Amino acid sequence: MSTITKLAMGMMGQLRPKPARGDAATSIVLPPPTKHGGAQLMDALSMRHSSREFSSAELPLPLLSDLLWAAYGVNRSDGKRTAPSALNAQEINVFLALPSGAYRYDASTNALHLVAASDLRRVTGYQDFVDEAPLDLVYVADHGRMGMVPVTQRESYASVAAGAIAQNVYLFAACHGLATVLRAWIDRAAIADALGLTHDQQVLLSQTVGYPGKAGAA
Ligand SMILES: Cc1cc2nc3c(=O)[nH]c(=O)nc-3n(C[C@H](O)[C@H](O)[C@H](O)COP(=O)(O)O)c2cc1C
Repeated sequence: MSTITKLAMGMMGQLRPKPARGDAATSIVLPPPTKHGGAQLMDALSMRHSSREFSSAELPLPLLSDLLWAAYGVNRSDGKRTAPSALNAQEINVFLALPSGAYRYDASTNALHLVAASDLRRVTGYQDFVDEAPLDLVYVADHGRMGMVPVTQRESYASVAAGAIAQNVYLFAACHGLATVLRAWIDRAAIADALGLTHDQQVLLSQTVGYPGKAGAA
């Protein structure tokens, strides 16, 4: 769907998901992530960049598992994560818009839980590539987890935490030949509606990930 069409539909509150491809499993147990390897940090930083050309090829589950662990997985025995959060509130929920449905990443069990049995990808942003790229991540702040954070600071602290997760995804993508772009040009109300979010849950950002498309391929 073109950006113009999306803008028009968004203004009318009509930006809606498509039917899911295949049967949306209620939960998906991810393979254990590979927690080592990849490029050296300085090489990964040298390669980090935003891309807006994606192949529609789906990401295999092992790669998806590694990507999500790098993004926001549990990396210590006390349950702390690969990205920081103020007061360790861990307020960011990572949702995945996949062709087969929308899922929430559960880092503690390394699983995906179905939240909507439809293809939400085109709802995750106004840019046309989000419709066909195999994965659009959505970062959502759960204000219910930020009771210790002053109310006036909650959105900015959560945005910083989401930014740290996004950079983890950028570095993972750089190491694994994937394309990615963080996106703030999104219809937050349409995404919240499609994901069935509560008033305590605030859509912050989206991030597309996939294999590079023709123009983005090396
Ligand atoms: C908070 C934030 C919001 C962004 N929103 C968008 C967006 O909506 N669409 C997009 O194509 N790129 C978006 N970007 C990506 C920037 O355009 C990109 O990072 C910038 O052009 C620099 O390019 P680089 O990431 O390759 O260094 C966003 C980046 C940030 C940090």
